[in-house]
Amino acid sequence: MAKDSVAYACRECGAHAPKWVGRCTACDAWGSLEELAATAARAQKRGDRRARSAALPVSEVPTDTVYRVGTGIGELDRVLGGGAVPGGAVLVGGDPGVGKSTLLLQALGACARSGPALYVSGEESAAQVALRARRLGLGETTLRVLGVSELAEIEDEVAQVWPLAMVVDSVQAVRDAGLGSPAGTITQLREVTMRLVDLAQREGTALFLVGHVTKEGGLAGPKVLEHLVDAVLSFEGERGHAFRTLRATKNRFGSATEVGLFEMTQEGLREVAQPSAMFLAERPRGASGSIVAATAEGARSLLVEVQALVGHPGVGAGRRSATGVDGARLAMLLAVLQRRTSVELGQADVFVNVAGGLHIEEPAVDLAVALAVAGAFLARPAADDLVAFGEVGLAGEVRGVPRCAARLAEARAMGFRRVLLPASTAQRTTAAERDGVELVPVRSLEEAIDQMG
Ligand code: TYD
Ligand code: MG
Repeated sequence: MAKDSVAYACRECGAHAPKWVGRCTACDAWGSLEELAATAARAQKRGDRRARSAALPVSEVPTDTVYRVGTGIGELDRVLGGGAVPGGAVLVGGDPGVGKSTLLLQALGACARSGPALYVSGEESAAQVALRARRLGLGETTLRVLGVSELAEIEDEVAQVWPLAMVVDSVQAVRDAGLGSPAGTITQLREVTMRLVDLAQREGTALFLVGHVTKEGGLAGPKVLEHLVDAVLSFEGERGHAFRTLRATKNRFGSATEVGLFEMTQEGLREVAQPSAMFLAERPRGASGSIVAATAEGARSLLVEVQALVGHPGVGAGRRSATGVDGARLAMLLAVLQRRTSVELGQADVFVNVAGGLHIEEPAVDLAVALAVAGAFLARPAADDLVAFGEVGLAGEVRGVPRCAARLAEARAMGFRRVLLPASTAQRTTAAERDGVELVPVRSLEEAIDQMG
């Protein structure tokens, strides 16, 4: 059929193809082919927008303040930037079983107090979702549950219910019958997401989409959808730990650096009220290779224990293992220790672990990691009341880091008295920030090793 010969088009170069292939044969772009129906719909929408809007001087562009709906979960609101935004779309990704459905069901239950709330489940049956909702104490709310996977049915229901907030669990399970391809394929994912995002925008609904990260679905997973939504959140947890983190990797409505902390319990997800206390609860006293780091991802500072174990030099095979910090960063720090300090690690095995299952991405944890390894190697315990933070450079220098005030405040609140920190950062502190803690400014890693006892 002639119609079939142009059923797909490349987003990048516009070339047509008779059937879907992973790579455009004209321009070699990967995953760029989509059904013409989708392309046409988008082009038309773009045309609509162009016709409506004209460029305005920056002083005359209306800036409507963003209205927010509290999700009833402080840690989720924190990561969103103050609550869900009606008309906005948020994609929540994470491994199967991490707790995405639980989190969003609880959030929607709270939104139901502000307006109609709709939970669309394309995976579990409505009965399963309802059972879980009742178990989570949401049985008496006005939360509505719809167990379908057909896009048209969802659109009909939204027109009826006109929800203030809505969850679609998962976007991989929803299918547009008009496209012919099975649910979860790239074409379906794009079209379904585009249509749901449009729908949410039109109806002023705060939309949460669940996206799976599976081995097979890696390509057809959340990655492809990230540019279609306003915010992308990633829900993570170490296997075997009840502790969960929620991070934004993209957020048009707020900062993308805030981290939400949760605990999975019998009664669903609970916010961690005093995270530093939780992370430090089982800290061994007087043990070498254990240092408390003051981290600050987002506005909040968290104290965590960094642990290191070093094997006897010459005995191990030079194995290096990092849990909770980046492996490449650890390799760099070990090289700096080796070359710039008296810590001659040689081929010794080195293990580093952030206790409690938190993953730290900021370089301000460098100093604590290096000191934990040095302490383990030298069999020298750090002082019990000591906290450390700072970035370590290749010359062995300790470099300044941001959000010092929050780190010092958290250290003080948790009863720590001495803070090892970059000299340049210490210089910028105010008397009020220094109150109650002794600052130990250091310029080099060698200096820090001398001062940690
Ligand atoms: P779920 O939200 O279904 O994960 P996802 O949607 O990301 O696949 O949560 C799955 C796990 O959470 C499951 O192993 C059971 C556990 N869980 C609890 O421990 N307590 C609870 O109250 C709930 C609802 C789930
Ligand atoms: Mg689920």
